[in-house]
Amino acid sequence: MVDEPEAALRAEREEHLTREVEASFEATPDERLRAVMQALTRHLHAFAREVRLTAPEWEAAIAFLTRAGSITDDRRQEFILLSDVLGLSMLTVGMNAPVTAEATESTVFGPFFVNGSPEIALGGDIAEGVPGRPCHVAGRVTSTTGAPIAGARVEVWGADEDGFYDVQYEGDLVQARAHLFTDGDGRYDFWTVQPAAYPIPHDGPVGDLLAATRRSHMRPAHIHFMVSAPEHTTLITHIFVAGDEWLDRDAVFGVTESLVIDFAQHDRGEAPGRMIDGPWSSARFDIVLAPREGAESRP
Ligand code: BEZ
Ligand code: FE
Repeated sequence: MVDEPEAALRAEREEHLTREVEASFEATPDERLRAVMQALTRHLHAFAREVRLTAPEWEAAIAFLTRAGSITDDRRQEFILLSDVLGLSMLTVGMNAPVTAEATESTVFGPFFVNGSPEIALGGDIAEGVPGRPCHVAGRVTSTTGAPIAGARVEVWGADEDGFYDVQYEGDLVQARAHLFTDGDGRYDFWTVQPAAYPIPHDGPVGDLLAATRRSHMRPAHIHFMVSAPEHTTLITHIFVAGDEWLDRDAVFGVTESLVIDFAQHDRGEAPGRMIDGPWSSARFDIVLAPREGAESRP
């Protein structure tokens, strides 16, 4: 057992080290970098002291990060996944969201967005043959003043009925992802497939962490949106399927109530723009973009 004077001496030595490291950043010319590095030092040291980090634990942490680095390539980003499951991504999204309460809420970007998606016409089908129940999504993009935004770019991407994105398959498949532009009244609509709940990639160190801590690796069913328009803040969000069993246990903490949408289920028959020979679903998602900082949104 460490006696009291010994413990006080040790605490003083630890605090002295923290102050010394903090001071080592004092000459950083970039003020923001200085503040960030000094705060990182204080919090990292406080964390290590709180848990009384042992040498084997420190080694395990280094091995974990090394594995995360080696599994990361241009198709897989284990560090973002780590940030996601620690809630850091969602915390950052929330802190940087526009302060306007009327704007549609944002959520995590996720690793499956691909630049250069195909353009489809309004009412078009992004599924491109992906298996799943046909699903029609429609809505209107407006500014916080209520004015419709014509020509807003709506990027959408989603998983198939087995919970996989096109980029998770071998080859150059482009399925269930596209972009389209709103009409003069801010309206958009497209066909896709009914989203399914799916596991985040969990065959790497992040998956091991979730297993060791008895946490789920599932995400509730959702469709991703990225909506942009001149003079407005780009919105990155999802719609989640109401009733999904994973809504309150999203592995990446991305669910907010306002993004949970009813997906109405329909029998075969007439559907927007087509006849459907089996069950299909539909969802409505109206989107409100905040004005970009420093820009007035046009009425
Ligand atoms: C996704 O929704 O695509 C996703 C988000 C965070 C981590 C993994 C997947
Ligand atoms: Fe996703």
